[in-house]
Amino acid sequence: MTSLTIRRPDDWHLHLRDGDALRAVLPHTAAQFARAIVMPNLKPPVTTTGQALAYKRRIIEALPSGSKFEPLMTLYLTDRTDPTEVEKARASGAVHGFKLYPAGATTNSDSGVTDIRRVDSVLARMAELGVVLQVHGEVTDPNIDVFDREARFIGAVLAPVIERYPNLRVVFEHITTREAVEFVRGARKGVAATITPQHLLMNRNALFTGGIRPHHYCLPVLKTETDRRALLEAIASGDPRFFLGTDSAPHARHTKEAFCGCAGIYSAHAAIELYAEAFEAAGALAQLNGFASEHGAAFYGLPYNEGTVTLTKESWDVPASYRFGSDELVPLRAGEKVLWRVAQ
Ligand code: NCD
Ligand code: ZN
Ligand code: ZN
Repeated sequence: MTSLTIRRPDDWHLHLRDGDALRAVLPHTAAQFARAIVMPNLKPPVTTTGQALAYKRRIIEALPSGSKFEPLMTLYLTDRTDPTEVEKARASGAVHGFKLYPAGATTNSDSGVTDIRRVDSVLARMAELGVVLQVHGEVTDPNIDVFDREARFIGAVLAPVIERYPNLRVVFEHITTREAVEFVRGARKGVAATITPQHLLMNRNALFTGGIRPHHYCLPVLKTETDRRALLEAIASGDPRFFLGTDSAPHARHTKEAFCGCAGIYSAHAAIELYAEAFEAAGALAQLNGFASEHGAAFYGLPYNEGTVTLTKESWDVPASYRFGSDELVPLRAGEKVLWRVAQ
């Protein structure tokens, strides 16, 4: 196949940052996606509906003229989140979920939840009102091997929460392991997962190809080839529980090429093309439309997008870097080729 037309896709897990950084990255996402679930891990985090509405306005103001891109907002759960915030969020029509960051698990998670029991009353209200919980699924115990933290989170936190709140709708974000794929497949209704392009296209060897590769470092960290194969099988199956979430997470070059480099891979410049590569490699291009453009909308109870995007099998060179305010941003595949291209 050399050309593929799909319904216009959505990104169900995206970091847009704020200010100059927002203005630098937003055009990439807005060029491909109709909507995106915008993560709330700003500094300080977006914890109230009022803050989310103000952030949404800043995103809309930063859009290229004529763009109809719609940001779908989320709130950052903390130990102190008030259950009444769930009602405010729901009533706003603009907030589509609450994000659980276990405190210390990832970038800007220090205000996250220290113990899931502390947000029990919030989760109960979310289950009642049908508000989605988005989860960064890793345990934070420093004694647990970093490659095991996602798999351990399932038994320690995720499975019990899903059982305690049988009506809570949960997205297990950016899954990376065979265990996560199996868990989602076997879970009750109302449980789904997003999958990133990097976890479909690379295994942990990519962290160490010829030396240490800070631009391949994200959390959850890349896993084994067996895990990657399980993710490819999940997307190839067409199972509607799995959908697109790039987790595109821009960081200035100097903060990644550093003594202690930040976690996060930037993929918004070539998101749908990178997924096309992964689906082609899995022999499953016919499943890209469901994964990218239908399963997520169905899970979130939102309408499908009008319009289409056409991809052609035509390679192009990814720049070595993009401008990122007064800094530089090194994208996934920097200085290399991407095999598919969106027809403009
Ligand atoms: C994300 C970021 O930079 O905000 N980083 C990452 O490695 N994925 C945070 C996150 O999604 O965990
Ligand atoms: Zn995360
Ligand atoms: Zn993320």
